Amino acid sequence: MQKREMWGSRTGFVMAAVGSAIGLGNIWRFPYMVYDNGGGAFLIPYFAAMLIAGIPFMILEFGLGKKFIGSAPKVFSSISRKWEWLGWWQVMVSFIITTYYAVVVAWALNYFVLAFFQGWGTAPKDFFFTKFLAATDSPLHWGSVRPEILIATAAAWFLTIFAVFTGVKSGIERTNKIFMPLLFLLVFVFIGRGLMLPGAVDGLNWLFTPDFSAIKEGKVWADAFGQIFYSLSIGFAIMLSYASYLPEESDISNNACMTVFINCGFSIISGIMIFSVLGYMAQQQGVPISKIATSGVGLAFITLPTAINLMPAPIFFGTLFFLALSVAGLSSMISLNEVVVAALMEKMNISRKKAAVIFCSVGFLISIVFTTGGGLLLLDIVDHFINNFGVLIGGVIEIIFVAWFCRVDDLRAYINSSSEIKIGGLWSLSIRFVAPAMLCFMLVSNFVGDVSKNYGGYSGTATLAFGWSTLFVCIAFAAFCSRHNHAFALIENTNRNFLKRS
Ligand code: ALA
Repeated sequence: MQKREMWGSRTGFVMAAVGSAIGLGNIWRFPYMVYDNGGGAFLIPYFAAMLIAGIPFMILEFGLGKKFIGSAPKVFSSISRKWEWLGWWQVMVSFIITTYYAVVVAWALNYFVLAFFQGWGTAPKDFFFTKFLAATDSPLHWGSVRPEILIATAAAWFLTIFAVFTGVKSGIERTNKIFMPLLFLLVFVFIGRGLMLPGAVDGLNWLFTPDFSAIKEGKVWADAFGQIFYSLSIGFAIMLSYASYLPEESDISNNACMTVFINCGFSIISGIMIFSVLGYMAQQQGVPISKIATSGVGLAFITLPTAINLMPAPIFFGTLFFLALSVAGLSSMISLNEVVVAALMEKMNISRKKAAVIFCSVGFLISIVFTTGGGLLLLDIVDHFINNFGVLIGGVIEIIFVAWFCRVDDLRAYINSSSEIKIGGLWSLSIRFVAPAMLCFMLVSNFVGDVSKNYGGYSGTATLAFGWSTLFVCIAFAAFCSRHNHAFALIENTNRNFLKRS
């Protein structure tokens, strides 16, 4: 049997896990979430969510991956053959995310090039929708493929699959060891100059001034937990796969804490970066920040280019920002790719290179749909359903299954046997009660919201065709893959007693 690949060093593993966690969610989602949910006061639910759910869930995923030495389907299949489908569900979710994540990274790469000459012109909004995307008015009308976006999408696939193709140590680890320091450097240089701009400090005051009344609202807490789960890439099967390449004696809980702290620290730094720019822009235009603060695509591709046009060194700020966005996106995409490649390799008993080529070809072909004029609207629907249901359903079932139906105290003892920080009853309390309760609450409220009203004002046909059906695809894929004979079955399993017998 082939020897399993391993991380070359502890730093390499933590950098890869951090690379996965830090992504678009930190740069374009977190800052607005803070601003919109009580400013500085939001940090209370946010850090509470980090401590009582983020760290325990991360420790759980690292522990499962390391103990059962495999990708998500193999981990769950090792526990019980009947639970393999859960791993495939998570693999499919990561697969779907990666198909459109590639296109968002492609936009960022295009804008990186445009930033050298502010190619978005004096009206960035018109440019983005009309010239760049040639956006149609409905997700049902796709229009034609945008050549620049297609080329950059191919580049994003090539770069990330190359890292995965070359292996855990020489590909994924090496790339993240370049990407992560580069990302921090870019953001620090941006902030170093950005904070000197007039109005920048006002932006930070807008961001961080606490409104303590906000934390009485359930929605603010749900947002904080949602941000923690999304940003830490938990429930995506990523951390299971990454931890499966840890050498036997590796630490689990300390590595998990480091990953979480670095990720959350980076989110705060991103908030400072974005709001210093918004503060400057508000001052230049003489408008309150509330008029310009936004998140997501609008923030990155409309508001930021508008602000960059007003800045003293537009090429400097523009290239730094879009390179940072591209690097953050690429490192998360690598981890999403690895989830699928690892699962294919193990299930079909094929080489890493073969699995990477199969996956990349299929993934790229699907990505093409998102490079059309209808791509933005399509992406918006798929992203909403996959994050609000796909990731959450996988995460909630995973945590309930492990915490309630498996011998979680054995897992705790296993984790403690090699970890510097020993975990105790509080960890069990969190994974048995707090984290599942919050996940269920979020899931139910998302479900009620989407059943009572079509998401985003789209037609019922559109949400059915691209939203709900995406979830059916995940179910069908999970059922199909887990029914077929596979290589995991050939591996002698000594872990079956992890499942509690009634
Ligand atoms: N954790 C990744 C992000 O924040 C998925 O974008």
